[in-house]
Amino acid sequence: MQTDMTGKVALVTGGAGGIGEFICERLAQAGGTVLMLDVDSSKADQTLNRLRDRLGDTAQRVQFVLGDLNDLQATDQLAQDLVKRHGAIDVLINNACINPLGPLDEAGIEEFERTQRINSHSGFVLARAIVPSMKKKGAGWIVNIASITFNGGWGDFVPYVHSKGAIVGMTRSMARELGPFNIRVNAISPGAIPTELERQVWAHKLEEYTQFILDHQSLKRRIEPQEIAQTVHYLCCEASSGITGQNLSVDGGWWMH
Ligand SMILES: NC(=O)c1ccc[n+]([C@@H]2O[C@H](COP(=O)([O-])OP(=O)(O)OC[C@H]3O[C@@H](n4cnc5c(N)ncnc54)[C@H](O)[C@@H]3O)[C@@H](O)[C@H]2O)c1
Repeated sequence: MQTDMTGKVALVTGGAGGIGEFICERLAQAGGTVLMLDVDSSKADQTLNRLRDRLGDTAQRVQFVLGDLNDLQATDQLAQDLVKRHGAIDVLINNACINPLGPLDEAGIEEFERTQRINSHSGFVLARAIVPSMKKKGAGWIVNIASITFNGGWGDFVPYVHSKGAIVGMTRSMARELGPFNIRVNAISPGAIPTELERQVWAHKLEEYTQFILDHQSLKRRIEPQEIAQTVHYLCCEASSGITGQNLSVDGGWWMH
């Protein structure tokens, strides 16, 4: 079974973040050239240092790309430049997010729109710019990182869950349109993954939150970011050759549909 990604170029948005770091690691270990796109260059430096410690020379396959997905015009230009520079982008992982938390009647309109731009509209802009190079090569893989919060419906998360619903819809529509070109498009819905994002959002009641998660999951342990990364890799190689248009939950058996 072909799981090697040698010769493939993968663009991972939010690559410097808690889950992105492990996606970049996994795809580089599989032989790919990985473009780690993020808005936060100091976080990216720290992530790259950890990757160098863990991967040695293999970490050279991970390159940082500075980009702000909140600026959709600049994102379009950046994607076109990257395609020109690398000849093609074979794999696109839409993983970046922001996660404003709070009641609906306190959410600002600008914050809502910013959440959509970063979490979902950027996925449309990037795919639009990159797909022509996938079509030329006769193959491509797109993975959109959604969330259990869309599957289950959570309060106090409306802008975020709105964006996650949008990328699940986009996944299905793109899969239909791009299947004839041998481009597969899938989503992954992580459950609750212990990352910096979780520590920030739930800092005020982390222990209670952890217990809540374990009560709801079928597996009575936390699901690690590496387990999201290995599912991304699976969806971008021959091991999953018959799968497109799906939203795969990696949540320890929390939400079943
Ligand atoms: N951690 C969880 O429990 C969990 C659960 C469900 C879904 N998810 C999803 O997994 C993905 C990764 O989450 P994470 O936990 O690693 O989050 P994270 O906050 O650790 O990482 C997100 C990354 O996106 C980057 N980013 C934010 N705004 C950006 C912008 N304007 N331009 C470019 N990059 C930007 C951040 O700098 C950060 O590195 C997200 O899509 C998130 O919704 C996470």
